[in-house]
Amino acid sequence: MNQNQEKQNAALAALDYIQYECILGVGSGSTVTSLIQNLKKVKHNIKALVSSSEDTTDKLKHAGFVVDELSNVGSPDLYIDGADEVTRNFYMTKGGGGALTREKILVAASRKIICIVDSSKIVDVLGKYPLPIEVIPMAKSYISREIIRLGGQPELRHNFVTDNGNFILDVHNLTIVDPPQLEKQINNIAGVVTNGIFAIKPADVVLIGQSNGVLTLENR
Ligand code: A5P
Repeated sequence: MNQNQEKQNAALAALDYIQYECILGVGSGSTVTSLIQNLKKVKHNIKALVSSSEDTTDKLKHAGFVVDELSNVGSPDLYIDGADEVTRNFYMTKGGGGALTREKILVAASRKIICIVDSSKIVDVLGKYPLPIEVIPMAKSYISREIIRLGGQPELRHNFVTDNGNFILDVHNLTIVDPPQLEKQINNIAGVVTNGIFAIKPADVVLIGQSNGVLTLENR
């Protein structure tokens, strides 16, 4: 398997969804980097761009795009992002790069969500990849204890501060059998900003890169 080729094929397939006058939300991570490298091909269809991280903003500007504030553009028509894991019923975990909060805001605000992944990201049950939780710094120990009560093993991400000035707990050993329920439960812990389960609002389309093309899953 050539993972980079698969990422690129997924990213290229996403370009077809960027139609005339599109207000586009752009995710974060290496698969999205491949999207940004090819975004010029559909520049004529992009009315406005919003970004999910400082890193993505820098890359978009470097590629010659103007990046708008979400508050100034209204609802994005489309949000395109990668994932750490994704199931065939369109649930995702995200936040390996630490940008989960702004990613979740853009998911919530956007009309259509497209997930672009290489084939290694497809799983039957979420949780093997450590689940990131963005936390208010003063709450990190309290939240860690609550997560242990849920059966997870939290680990503070070292030397890492999010774009919002917070910390990340990476939670190991979770088997996420009911993603929407666990997403709500973790969000209800005081001091949690966001968790990396994207299930209450799942993907509409998953584009799975293959070595010679792409497999499209549509959530109808
Ligand atoms: C960034 O915080 C993440 O949510 C990414 O979308 C996710 O980690 C996927 O990244 P890659 O495309 O680099 O695998």
